[in-house]
Amino acid sequence: MTSGREAAPTRIDTARPHPARVYDWWLGGKDNYPVDEELARKILAVDPTVRRGARANRRFMHRATRTLAQAGVRQFLDIGTGIPTEPNLHQVVQGVALEARVVYVDNDPIVLRHAEALLRGTAEGTTDYVHADVRDPDTVLALAAESLDFAQPIALSLIALTHYLGDEVHDLLKRYVEALTPGSHLILSQVTPDLNPEAVEKAAGLFRQSGTPFFPRSLAEFSRFFEGLELLGPGVIPVSGWRPDPQDVAAQAEGIVPVYAGVARKA
Ligand SMILES: C[S@@+](CC[C@H](N)C(=O)[O-])C[C@H]1O[C@@H](n2cnc3c(N)ncnc32)[C@H](O)[C@@H]1O
Repeated sequence: MTSGREAAPTRIDTARPHPARVYDWWLGGKDNYPVDEELARKILAVDPTVRRGARANRRFMHRATRTLAQAGVRQFLDIGTGIPTEPNLHQVVQGVALEARVVYVDNDPIVLRHAEALLRGTAEGTTDYVHADVRDPDTVLALAAESLDFAQPIALSLIALTHYLGDEVHDLLKRYVEALTPGSHLILSQVTPDLNPEAVEKAAGLFRQSGTPFFPRSLAEFSRFFEGLELLGPGVIPVSGWRPDPQDVAAQAEGIVPVYAGVARKA
C-alpha cells in the first residue's frame, strides 16, 4: 500500500534553491531547477566532496537500515527522505523482510510529487508518505502512527537532515525518541566542519546566503544527539566508515567526506 498525507505547503517554489533539489543535482538527478543547479555548482566549487558526500549518505542509509532489518526491526520512519533514488529505503528493508513497514516524511513539495509514483512497497508490508515538517513532531508522529505501531520498535532515521536545523534540533530529537519504545533505533548523519573546515564553512555560507539555514556540527556536538542511547559499533564515525561494504572502502580511498554518522539503540 502506498498513500500520501499532506501537512506542509505543496506548491513548488522555483524562485530559490531547495535542499532536496540541490542534493538531487549532486546525485545526477533531473528533479532540479536552474536556481538549484546554480547553488549546487557554487557549493561544488568550494567543496569538491559534496557529490561523494551525497552518495555516501545514500549508501549509509542502505547499510544502516539493512543492518537493522537483518536484526529484526520491522518498522522504519525516515524523516527528510529526499527525492527518491534506487534503491530507496523501503526496497532495502523489504528486500530483507517483505512485511517491513516504512513511513517517509519530507516537507519539500517536489518530494511529494514523487511519493505516489515511486514509493511502491510490497503487498505484505506498507510504504507510506507523510508531507510534513520535522519541526512539527506532533503532526509527524500522529500521521506516522496511522501506519506504524509505536508500541513496537521503530528505526527512526534523519539522514543528512539535522544540519538544516538549529538548536531546536535537541528538543526535536528528544521528542521523537521519547515517542519510541525500547528496542527502537536512531539513525543520523550530518555535515561536520571537523574534517575540512574551510570548505565546509564556505559551503554553509552559500546555503545561508540562498535562504537555507545550515549548521555544520563538531564530533562532540553531533555525538550529543545520541545522549541516553546505546551507540552501535563502530560508534560515531565519518559516514563511509560505518560498517562499510567493499564499495564504501573503495569510495573512502577517494578521500574522506565531511559527514559524521551513527546508529544507536534505545534501551
Ligand atoms: C540532503 S537531503 C537528504 C535526503 C536523504 N535523507 C539522503 O540522505 O539521501 C535533506 C532532505 O531533508 C528535507 N528537509 C529539510 N528540511 C526539512 C524539514 N524541516 N522537514 C522535513 N524535511 C526537511 C529536504 O527537503 C531534503 O529532502
